[in-house]
Amino acid sequence: MKIQRVLVTGGAGYIGTHTCIELIAAGYDVICADNFNNSSPVAMERVERITGTAIPVHRMDFCNLDEVRALFREEAIDAAIHFAGHKAVGESVQKPLMYYENNLLSLINLCRAMGPGRAKNIVFSSSATVYGLSDRLPLTEETPTSAYNPYGRTKLYIEEILKDLHTAEPDWNMSILRYFNPVGAHPSGLIGEDPADIPNNLMPYIAQVAVGRLEKLSIYGDDYDTPDGTGVRDFIHVVDLARGHVAALRKLEAEPGYTVHNLGTGKGCSVLELVRAFERVNNVTIPYEITARRPGDVAANYASTDKARNELGWQATHTIEDMVRDTWNWQSKNPQGYRDADG
Ligand SMILES: NC(=O)c1ccc[n+]([C@@H]2O[C@H](COP(=O)([O-])OP(=O)(O)OC[C@H]3O[C@@H](n4cnc5c(N)ncnc54)[C@H](O)[C@@H]3O)[C@@H](O)[C@H]2O)c1
Repeated sequence: MKIQRVLVTGGAGYIGTHTCIELIAAGYDVICADNFNNSSPVAMERVERITGTAIPVHRMDFCNLDEVRALFREEAIDAAIHFAGHKAVGESVQKPLMYYENNLLSLINLCRAMGPGRAKNIVFSSSATVYGLSDRLPLTEETPTSAYNPYGRTKLYIEEILKDLHTAEPDWNMSILRYFNPVGAHPSGLIGEDPADIPNNLMPYIAQVAVGRLEKLSIYGDDYDTPDGTGVRDFIHVVDLARGHVAALRKLEAEPGYTVHNLGTGKGCSVLELVRAFERVNNVTIPYEITARRPGDVAANYASTDKARNELGWQATHTIEDMVRDTWNWQSKNPQGYRDADG
């Protein structure tokens, strides 16, 4: 089976933009669809600038089945990479219905529109959050799954929905990718993570402290059973992550079926190590304070990368130094993200 034209849902977002670039570099044609709920059209203009390629961009909502069906009538699509969804854990606790509606409905509508008579190839953005509070490390694809917040449950439920669909209609080809902690930015400094509000994730928080938008970083707990007491996570450069999607598509082409893979580096890095690396590599100071542990945070998690390496022929190559350098390159050139952009 040959895949050529790839729909990237949520393509204007953080991971979507980087994936569009890697798909084009690998020779695929990209179609982007996004409602710009958490992104800016400027991001897609930048992707076009980086790739020198015009990309059809559809402003549409995947919760609207009519709009999704119209997209599939308008564009020939061989496969979809489904990034569109809400992703903030804390917000999902406050607004569970919004999360269940957006994340589940957008996936169901996409599958309905891709259904009979069309190519049934999908790559889905899952998350290491589906490993729940497991402390058996490294986390392999066989580690039992569970969820402890509405966001995590949407990822888990979608994995189950896709599995059921594949059982019912085995001509679907599905690649579930469980991301660890994506950080960094494209080396051009033209695109990067641009949270609309106060960042939920560590790296954009550090970057906004460095650029003076936030006063100081809070580190949640320094009494974990880890080498320096702060939490340990598997940070992965977003360009490596994006290339993992290209590898997953190639795998679908060569060996159709239903697969699950971790996308991580396999190496744990503590919060304090990341802060120190950011300071050292970028020659900036990050004021921080140690505060209480956050409920639901595990001491450490990192991926087993064997399955992705063996089956997708993919592994991460970027270092922590690359991640902090590229993040600062993006943030220092775009202090207000895309908001102060001229396009
Ligand atoms: N960034 C992370 O730390 C991380 C980790 C694991 C998994 N993921 C998953 O990866 C995917 C992409 O994450 P990201 O960091 O690029 O997030 P993002 O918010 O930057 O990108 C998501 C994009 O989807 C769009 N979108 C949301 N709902 C939509 C809808 N109903 N219709 C059309 N567009 C819609 C948003 O406008 C945004 O551009 C998400 O599904 C997220 O849950 C992210």
